[in-house]
Amino acid sequence: MKKRKKKIIITVDGYSSCGKSTFAKAIATELGYVYIDSGAMYRAVTLFALRRGLVAGGVADEQRILEVMPEITITFKPDRETGFSATYLNGEKVEREIRDREVSDNVSPVSTIAGVRARLVELQRAMGKGGGVVMDGRDIGTVVFPDAELKIFMTARPEVRAQRRYLELVSKGMPADFGAVMRNITERDRIDSSREASPLRKADDAVELDNSDMTPEEQIIWFRKLYKKRTDES
Ligand code: DC
Repeated sequence: MKKRKKKIIITVDGYSSCGKSTFAKAIATELGYVYIDSGAMYRAVTLFALRRGLVAGGVADEQRILEVMPEITITFKPDRETGFSATYLNGEKVEREIRDREVSDNVSPVSTIAGVRARLVELQRAMGKGGGVVMDGRDIGTVVFPDAELKIFMTARPEVRAQRRYLELVSKGMPADFGAVMRNITERDRIDSSREASPLRKADDAVELDNSDMTPEEQIIWFRKLYKKRTDES
């Protein structure tokens, strides 16, 4: 009888707008795993802080944000429309709101707050406990699940990423300006990789995927080979 494969934890980290979520969702579907978008959690905290006036113009009131953290509950519930889970902030569906430009412009300063990270990392670990999970973010393979069985680090050229993000915004009918998107991406790269708390970096045992010149299908084929090799070995 064929041995059932163990349900592992797969981490997908990398720069913003690299196609991490598209890739992570596709491999979760392929394996029948749960997909968890850790960036959505940082975005939800940012939305809460924006609504309370605790972050604006890229400057966050760290002390006050830490004080209100206990008032924030973030959950994911399956969404019938998309087939994936949607993000809820204190019971309100905020999947669309957390992708707004204002949130994108303010999420980096909020996610540099060590106390915010500690709380979200704790939640992320609880969500991935039983395995069978694909989680994407910046520090999933380095901090959240350093012992994950399979770690992928995604990259793509900045202009390719800006173009993808721009087209995504246009397709959603959201206001988009290529120059502004490019600036937002460059600035987020800078903050994400230079911040003190869990800077973005490739885990030593992560496999790099530069998808600048790859279609989503080619990325899945690449993944299938990697997954087979890894799980046959173990
Ligand atoms: O993946 P994303 O663009 O939705 O993430 C939004 C922001 O959250 C990003 O600027 C960096 C931060 N983030 C983080 O610091 N750690 C994670 N694990 C995921 C996201």
